Amino acid sequence: MFRKISSVHLFSGKALDDLKHVRQEEVAVLAHALANAGSKVVNLAQLLNLCTVNALGRVMVGRRVFGDGSGGDDRKADEFKSMVLEMMVLAGVFNIGDFISSLEWLDLQGVASKMKKLHKRFDDFLTAIVEDHKKKMSSGRADQHVDMLTTLLSLKEDADGEGAKLNDTEIKALLLDMFTAGTDTSSSTVEWALAELIRHPQMLARVQKSWTNSWAETGS
Ligand code: HEM
Repeated sequence: MFRKISSVHLFSGKALDDLKHVRQEEVAVLAHALANAGSKVVNLAQLLNLCTVNALGRVMVGRRVFGDGSGGDDRKADEFKSMVLEMMVLAGVFNIGDFISSLEWLDLQGVASKMKKLHKRFDDFLTAIVEDHKKKMSSGRADQHVDMLTTLLSLKEDADGEGAKLNDTEIKALLLDMFTAGTDTSSSTVEWALAELIRHPQMLARVQKSWTNSWAETGS
């Protein structure tokens, strides 16, 4: 069901065209950050991750989740960032209980208990976003651009056209799933592509030339 919703509202040709400005704006923010860094060393992997999370955030929940350092939503953005980082660390940790199941209940390194606390923080974060959306929708203050969460909430009673229902827990799980599945994959792919271009200067020159031509023709 969610595959069907995603292919229509997220990945169809029309959805990709409608959301083009979001991707362009977030890439522009990234380009500004790189330009402003001048000759300073930058952590490109981190900046690319920030760019993909924000682009996906705007498409999924109608707002950037990481700040760009200019104030505004920065406190919330930092909170989300720290949760994602903690999740990455906890997911990758060598957990003794995973290998010796008789010791699992002891949770020797406290990984399970940290995961539970983190789950609660993610849940609170997503609950606030969902509740905020519901309020905006009921007061008719929803933004013009329809994000995925608004679509999911409006389809709650009949998600697949055949009467299937979606509850808030499922909606939050779907949001988290998309954020975790869609961000690191995309930013690592771009990072890999950039590394390959740096390794092959002739290809890099061709890409730059074709980008300059396309910019001259279309301005995008
Ligand atoms: C270059 C970027 C990406 C790569 C390399 C990638 C790779 C993959 C792979 C290998 C799978 C498993 C497929 C399978 O089990 O057969 C998968 C599943 C999935 N991906 Fe991606 N992905 C990327 C981008 C994205 C984005 C941008 C999103 C969301 C916005 C996303 C959401 C998902 C979801 C929800 C699933 C689970 C699908 C299911 O349960 O059927 N992915 N991805």
